[in-house]
Amino acid sequence: QFKAVIFDLDGVITDTARYHYLAWKRLAEAQGVHFDEAFNEHLKGIDRMGSLELILASATRSYTDAEKLALATEKNEHYKELIATMTPADLLPGAVEALDAARAAGLKIGLASVSRNAFEVLDRLGITGKFDYVVDAGTIARGKPDPEIFLKAARELGVAPGDCFGVEDAVAGVASIKAAGMYAIGVGDPRVLAQADIVIPDLAAFPLN
Ligand code: BG6
Ligand code: MG
Ligand code: MG
Repeated sequence: QFKAVIFDLDGVITDTARYHYLAWKRLAEAQGVHFDEAFNEHLKGIDRMGSLELILASATRSYTDAEKLALATEKNEHYKELIATMTPADLLPGAVEALDAARAAGLKIGLASVSRNAFEVLDRLGITGKFDYVVDAGTIARGKPDPEIFLKAARELGVAPGDCFGVEDAVAGVASIKAAGMYAIGVGDPRVLAQADIVIPDLAAFPLN
C-alpha cells in the first residue's frame, strides 16, 4: 500500500517542458549548436547549469564561467517571459484530477522539480495548496538522475522511499525515482521511459483517477 506520491512538474503537470525546449533552442542556435527534439530529450529533468553544459559541449569554442552564467541567465529570462502568461488553463489534462484522486486515496503528495521556477509555476497554475511538500530546488546538491531530490521529498513527507511512487516524464527523472528505491510511473513514450515500472501517455490515465 503506497503512502505518498511525488510528482515532477515540467512536462507532467503542465507543458513547461515545451517552454524549456524553446528557450534552450534559441540559446543553442545563437551559439551555433544544432538543437532538436532528440537532443532536448537528454535535457529533460536536468538542472539549468547541467543543461547548459550539455549544449555547450557541442559548441566549437570553450566558454568562461562568467560567459556560462550570462547565458544561463539569458535563457532563464526568456523562460520567465514564456511562463509569465500561464494560468490554470495550462494544467495538463488529468493533472488536477490526479492530485485530487491521490488526496482522496489518503496519500501524502510531494513535488520534486529541479526547476528554480517551480514555486512560481505552481502559483500561476493555482495548485500550490494541493501539495504537502514542495522541494526547493535551490537546496538540492545533485540533480536528477541522482536520487537526492526524491529522497528529500520522501523524508520531508515522513514516508519511507519504498512506500512512495514517483511520476516523471524524463529519462533522468525516472532514473532518479528508481535510484531512490521507489515505484516509477513514466508519463510519455514507453520506448523512451524504459526504466519506468509502468508508462501512461498523460495524467488523464493516472491509475487513481
Ligand atoms: C526541470 C526541467 O524540471 O527543470 C528542465 O525538466 C530544466 O528542462 C530544469 O532545465 C531547471 O529549470 P530552471 O527553471 O531552474 O531553469
Ligand atoms: Mg519533467
Ligand atoms: Mg521537473
